[in-house]
Amino acid sequence: MILGVNIDHVATLRQARLGIEPDPVMGATLAILGGADGITLHLREDRRHVNDRDLDMLRAFVPVELNMEMAATDEMVRIACRKLPDLVTLVPEKRQELTTEGGLDVRKNMKSVKKAVRTLHDKGIPVSLFINPEAADIEASKESGADMVEIHTGCYANEKGRKREKELVRVAGAVDKAVELGLLANAGHGLNYTNVAEIAMLNGVRGLYIGHSIIARAVLVGLERAVREMKELILRGGS
Ligand code: PXP
Repeated sequence: MILGVNIDHVATLRQARLGIEPDPVMGATLAILGGADGITLHLREDRRHVNDRDLDMLRAFVPVELNMEMAATDEMVRIACRKLPDLVTLVPEKRQELTTEGGLDVRKNMKSVKKAVRTLHDKGIPVSLFINPEAADIEASKESGADMVEIHTGCYANEKGRKREKELVRVAGAVDKAVELGLLANAGHGLNYTNVAEIAMLNGVRGLYIGHSIIARAVLVGLERAVREMKELILRGGS
């Protein structure tokens, strides 16, 4: 099972000061050194975190799977066809959302999804669709010509106890259905250090795509060292 690390959150921190650090490209390098099998970035229409320069640089050096998350718009498809990521994941996109809120309604957007899949396939780019764990969405994904799906684990991640168990069964059922239809099955959203194990145990899952919890943990586990290094500089420089 592969781990794709989403580095949007590094870019979000950079954009808080509209500066140059932390650089998501450096973030990707460290993630790869840590064992990431893939790097995911979401190029949004409004470029609110990851920008075109990040995509250029990541495309140039990322030696593992570069997964470009994007809306199925003509602009994004054009960019993907130029940059040739190793995988495109089509997601729904709303301007005001804090993160991708729900899965793609493939049936409702069948025309634009099919068109995007066809154009990306012409360039040799495999396509994944980020969908809710619903049989109808998996069937529609198959019909669209996509190669894989990423099952939205947000509801599973947000629930507790019996409700979480029910959501886990839904995710497992969705993975089984996807595999049965000949689609590769990934999962992601809201996965963290306490809820990932049960998803990682599911049969048939190709990969997990995780962002927020990894970057959140990096901030905390790296803080002590960062302060110590600053203190050393101050003590060395001061009288
Ligand atoms: N997969 C998709 C399609 C996403 O949009 C996101 C969020 O950017 C993730 C996975 C990762 O979610 P999280 O940041 O909650 O781990």
